[in-house]
Amino acid sequence: MAEPVQTPQASFPTRIFSGIQPSGGLTLGNYLGALKRFVEKQDEGIETIYCMVDMHAITVWQDPEKLRQQTREGAAAFIAAGIDPARSILFNQSQVSAHVELGWIFNCIARMGWMSRMTQFKDKAGKNSENVSLGLFAYPSLMAADILAYKATHVPVGEDQKQHLELTRDIAIKFNNDYGVNFFPVVEPVIEGAATRVMSLRDGTKKMSKSDPSDQSRINLTDDADTIAKKIRKAKTDPEPLPDTLDGLKDRPEARNLVNIYAALAGHTPEQVIRDYAGAQFGSFKPALADLAVAKLEPITLEMNRLMQDPGEIDHILGQGAARADAIARPIVDQVYDIIGMIRSRRD
Ligand code: TYM
Repeated sequence: MAEPVQTPQASFPTRIFSGIQPSGGLTLGNYLGALKRFVEKQDEGIETIYCMVDMHAITVWQDPEKLRQQTREGAAAFIAAGIDPARSILFNQSQVSAHVELGWIFNCIARMGWMSRMTQFKDKAGKNSENVSLGLFAYPSLMAADILAYKATHVPVGEDQKQHLELTRDIAIKFNNDYGVNFFPVVEPVIEGAATRVMSLRDGTKKMSKSDPSDQSRINLTDDADTIAKKIRKAKTDPEPLPDTLDGLKDRPEARNLVNIYAALAGHTPEQVIRDYAGAQFGSFKPALADLAVAKLEPITLEMNRLMQDPGEIDHILGQGAARADAIARPIVDQVYDIIGMIRSRRD
């Protein structure tokens, strides 16, 4: 093995990559923790690459027709939320083979011990760990490949992806050290804002998730105004009024969650929300939150529905994005083959 080298970050230009799984409909958690922030990054003028990670989705069973539908719906959500396919690259993962090629190489870099510590795998596999797919276990090294195939430097995600990004850093460092190169950047997780972990509306200690069996636990980006308002009205809370400091929310997970959701939707800090609603009962806070949620989400839902009328156009956008993504990732993965000693002599 070559001598370890330091990886000076300055040599890598800022580039953002992030992805969302089309394993179900998108939720308010995906919107506030990811999508909304993806749009902000694009609008700051940074180079942004966003991906519907369909190869990740099949780590658990997906009905083929539903998977196609969910991939298009996810892409429609990106566009409806403000991603401009001319300014950002928007595509689905399986159309760019560099991801799985680099994913395999990273399977040979990542250590079993590292992967065994992934809490999301443990949560998802539960007591069933002998019977889940090998892909579910290897998933985080494909995620590292998604990012590093573009030498992305910054990855906006929700809190739940933090450990996977730490693994991505470990893989990049080990690759650079093993081969004595300064090839991959050590990525920076970008986990910021009031809603990095949106919780279930039925249980403030559980993450809001597209895979929760209870539809009441989440707001889907496809929910209509009535459904959104009803779910917020029925959200679990406690009998106390809102406190006058954030500290007062410490042991009130459901109340804290609604305050954070309000803050993220309004573009305020949770402190500001507490200042405005100190002493308010949920009887008045919930309707205010429902109005705000409908005002922010309804235009996105309507635009998603409009875009979904023309699936061919969505596929066209994904195809064009994939060609642009491939033009960045292909030479990077080819250089990886050269670094690791693969012969590349085929000429088409
Ligand atoms: P996924 O599809 O579970 O979620 C997509 C994004 O939404 C965020 N998110 C949340 N944020 C706040 N509160 C919530 N309740 C909530 N639920 C989900 C996630 O943190 C994520 O940012 N492994 C990834 C997909 C992926 C990826 C990547 C991400 C694959 N390759 C490369 C970044 C870079 C996942 O399963 O996300």
